[in-house]
Amino acid sequence: MKENACCLRLNSINSKNTTSTITPGGIELARQRTVFVCQSCGYKAPKWLGRCPDCGVWNSLVEELTEIGHQDKGRRHHPSDRPRRIDTVTMDKEIRHKTGLSEFDRTLGGGVVPGSLVLIGGDPGIGKSTLILQVVDRLAQQGLRTLYISGEESVQQIKLRAQRLSADSAELYLLTGTCLEDVMDGLDELAPRIIVVDSIQTIFTESLSSAPGSIGQVREVTSRLMNMAKSSNRALFLIGHVTKDGAIAGPKVLEHLVDTVLYFEGDGSQMYRILRSVKNRFGPTNEIGVFEMMDNGLAEVGNPSRIFLEDRANDVSGSVVISCMEGTRPLLVEIQALVCPSSLAIPRRTTIGVDPNRVNLLAAVLTRRGGLNLSDKDIFINVAGGIKIDEPAIDLGVISTVASSFLNKPIARNTVTFGEVGLSGEVRGVSHTETRLKEAVKLGFTRGVVSKKSIKPLKGKVYIELIGVSSIQDLLEVLFR
Ligand code: TYD
Ligand code: MG
Repeated sequence: MKENACCLRLNSINSKNTTSTITPGGIELARQRTVFVCQSCGYKAPKWLGRCPDCGVWNSLVEELTEIGHQDKGRRHHPSDRPRRIDTVTMDKEIRHKTGLSEFDRTLGGGVVPGSLVLIGGDPGIGKSTLILQVVDRLAQQGLRTLYISGEESVQQIKLRAQRLSADSAELYLLTGTCLEDVMDGLDELAPRIIVVDSIQTIFTESLSSAPGSIGQVREVTSRLMNMAKSSNRALFLIGHVTKDGAIAGPKVLEHLVDTVLYFEGDGSQMYRILRSVKNRFGPTNEIGVFEMMDNGLAEVGNPSRIFLEDRANDVSGSVVISCMEGTRPLLVEIQALVCPSSLAIPRRTTIGVDPNRVNLLAAVLTRRGGLNLSDKDIFINVAGGIKIDEPAIDLGVISTVASSFLNKPIARNTVTFGEVGLSGEVRGVSHTETRLKEAVKLGFTRGVVSKKSIKPLKGKVYIELIGVSSIQDLLEVLFR
């Protein structure tokens, strides 16, 4: 193939040369074809205004292309535009490119779907570029031509990272640039099957005058890239920055456009990273992949439960292990609680990894139905390992560990528990009881405390001592008698 002037084969770059080759991006003035539209009421203005004169909402005007100026909105007749009967639609066999990184494939629902748009968000420095470079190197090794477009780093910087990761596939090409129109030219010539844009906030289109990273720019650039990817059946990965409050920067709108949204999370100080799918048109959501950041890139963690339980202390009060579901996978995590006298009029309820409102509610249930007076106690809850849990199965865990800390009695180390707790103190069953218990058996737990009703169907299926509880009084009796 003819070597493109701007797309560089990764293994042809000499990393010793440190001169930057990033194209300096100047925004050309192409006025008249854009308007600023209020996202709240639809009011249109020829220039940006801080406040919409029509509905009075602040900061709601976003630059958009007008119909005439929009290149992609020309009328095209396509056979698929006509209505069709659903039983006449034929399906091709689903093709997925497996990357070989099984934690990544699982999060995507079984591999990369050609023509799909995947958005990966995460804090700066968490390892997004590292992850995606490892992923595309593996795809390129299978002979899929891949283009990595970076608006943040020079080719030499990327090559340096690639050397740490031993990524040197012959089908991996690099392109640095920030102007969408230039990038599209590079694409036409190379015709890659997989494209990465790192990051979407750095790419701008000349047809809009707003700054790169603004909502208008990001939305327009994404929708053009999407049209290109869908029409040529290429898989497109977009990397997005995350704002302080955790949304993918600027545009929540992006999440509507793309097929899959993945968040790469983790505590910067800890080595573990969790890739979580929050939207997936091609697989289950809430699936997670667990990685560990090493000197030579991200390594998969095949058995995350073991890690989350690794540093468990022996025989201390205020600690219990629950079995929760992350997507289709069970995960064992330790929940810790500390209950101590409060010096405040309204006692503190501080939580890490669990919803504080849920903890408030459970503390009230424990006070009224369990007879433990927590109204003048501060409660601190921590889910060990930096993972967030957002399912009702955690209720029994929270109740057990709070009670354990309050009574200063440890819970037997071999015990695992999960279940939902209602306002009258009743314990309810949760989905996937068998899967959750099987994971516990695998990690050596010998006693499961679950809702009474869910025990019957499990007879002979799981090899663990099962104790059924129907109320939190039962629970306290079982754990601390
Ligand atoms: P990076 O992928 O650049 O993060 P992002 O694109 O999300 O901003 O990776 C950032 C961190 O990862 C950086 O602090 C260095 C560390 N790192 C390693 O520990 N090992 C490695 O092999 C690599 C490539 C990076
Ligand atoms: Mg990066």
